[in-house]
Amino acid sequence: MKHFLKLSDWSTEEIMQALDLADKLKYERKHGIEHKLLNGMTLGMIFSKSSTRTRVSFEVGIHDLGGSGLFLSSRDLQIGRGEPVEDTARVLSRYLDGIMIRTFAQKEVEDLATYGSIPIINGLTDYCHPCQVMADLQTIREHKGNLDGRKLTYIGDGNNMANSLIVGGIKTGMEVAVACPKGYEPDADIMKWASENGKFTCTESIEEAASDADALYTDVWASMGQEAEATQRKEIFKNYQINSSVMSVAKSDAMVMHCLPAHRDEEITADVFESHANEIFDEAENRLHAQKAIMVLCMGK
Ligand code: CP
Ligand code: NVA
Repeated sequence: MKHFLKLSDWSTEEIMQALDLADKLKYERKHGIEHKLLNGMTLGMIFSKSSTRTRVSFEVGIHDLGGSGLFLSSRDLQIGRGEPVEDTARVLSRYLDGIMIRTFAQKEVEDLATYGSIPIINGLTDYCHPCQVMADLQTIREHKGNLDGRKLTYIGDGNNMANSLIVGGIKTGMEVAVACPKGYEPDADIMKWASENGKFTCTESIEEAASDADALYTDVWASMGQEAEATQRKEIFKNYQINSSVMSVAKSDAMVMHCLPAHRDEEITADVFESHANEIFDEAENRLHAQKAIMVLCMGK
């Protein structure tokens, strides 16, 4: 059974295969070529957190592939009233052909895969956001022509985005640099793996991390579930912003990326955001193409 629970589960070859397929599906969609590779299949989409991009791109994606998507809010499912994941997994496996889940604990996603008998796709947890990073890699390759040897810099909270970008970047041959305040580093297991497997640095210095970057990436200072810390985090992260002075130390043609939603004049200034809107919205579009590739590779016959 092929799942997509976190990027470290997939080899570099599997990631590159998915990116190539994502490019092909993008080309075909733009040229009106049908690709009903998951004809008649149903994807259940469980959400315990809000979503614009993930929800819509998965629903449109499965429709493009000839299947249908079923939106399942955990508030309305029995899982939200305490029905065990073990039982939910076994029940849903009898009806569906695959599940995409967005939730808090990574363990819940892993448990669905353990107890169910259909492919599970991680649509974001507190630990990682692998679907987003597949779209990010597709976007960097589109704009830069290649990934290997490029420098990807992430500025801000060492959160789910940072964790997945580090793994995805290193696995595809990029140098990855992270700038974050002390105490807000990416997860220790990710930092250890990155230091042992690629060119990786984590520093408090934004200038050092951003120097000569090909792509600069940021994300919100307070993630979903951290709303109560938002005010305190504004103070802690106030210098960890992509602005024109950060851009001046990156390569002159550096691209700017954001998974969205963005908070203007917090993690990114409005002017930098708007002058790189083309890249940022290509990135959002690529969620659709990258996730279609992931669904085909996991759910396809
Ligand atoms: N980037 C991302 O996952 O967006 P949504 O929260 O809108 O799905
Ligand atoms: N780090 C953010 C990403 C949103 C796509 C969050 O978890 O809320």
